[in-house]
Amino acid sequence: MDWIVIADNISKIYKTGETNVIALKNVNLRIERGEYIAILGPSGSGKSTLLNIIGGLDRPTSGKIYVDGVDLGRLKEGGLARFRAEKIGFVFQFFNLIPTFTALENVMVPAEIIGLKTRDAREKAEKILARVGLEGRFNHFPYQLSGGEQQRVAIARALINNPPLLLCDEPTGNLDTKTGAEIVELLSEINAEYKTTLVIVTHDQRIAKAADRIVNLVDGQIVET
Ligand SMILES: Nc1ncnc2c1ncn2[C@@H]1O[C@H](COP(=O)(O)OP(=O)(O)OP(=O)(O)O)[C@@H](O)[C@H]1O
Ligand SMILES: [Mg+2]
Repeated sequence: MDWIVIADNISKIYKTGETNVIALKNVNLRIERGEYIAILGPSGSGKSTLLNIIGGLDRPTSGKIYVDGVDLGRLKEGGLARFRAEKIGFVFQFFNLIPTFTALENVMVPAEIIGLKTRDAREKAEKILARVGLEGRFNHFPYQLSGGEQQRVAIARALINNPPLLLCDEPTGNLDTKTGAEIVELLSEINAEYKTTLVIVTHDQRIAKAADRIVNLVDGQIVET
């Protein structure tokens, strides 16, 4: 099997003052390259924690995480940041665009981080923005875009370096029903066209339906349903 993600007995304990919160408990998960996975579960069950650990934004308290064959625990912060920029796209509920950058400039950021010349970054950004349906919006600032358009910019930014892995945390959570449906459709197209592995944390039944597989988290553990 060609595993893009291997989570090997991951636990995460948050210590705040006197209290320990066990956010993840002995999680084992393997994700095949090209797969489309939906992570479901109640609020506080550890979904975002798991996604952030898979994406190298957070580290587990114990256990190992491999992405594209690399043990993330062996990378120092700088190496991890570089690895993320090359291999992993992130999309969040509240878009997280840079407010003082245009759509085009937002999308160019990850390409410039990995060292593309401005001209090449711009060309790639224009292509991917056009692909997500934003031709004619290149020079708009985030406040001049609708929620759905902002999420399309965020998706374009996540994809500009052609990462094999795209992680989304409630990507439709802040969108109305119709706009959400369009984003669900776009994500399915990306999975089909570019063979990008999708891991999407969601409460959205449409995403659960579109996914190849559903992972259910309850109290920090994967449960079979
Ligand atoms: N930085 C942190 N410090 C302390 N506790 C945290 C931290 N992040 C998360 N937690 C705790 O870990 C548990 C899991 O949180 P997490 O954000 O992963 O849940 P979630 O499933 O994404 O929930 P939601 O659906 O509400 O987004 C929660 O009990 C939360 O309070
Ligand atoms: Mg969450």
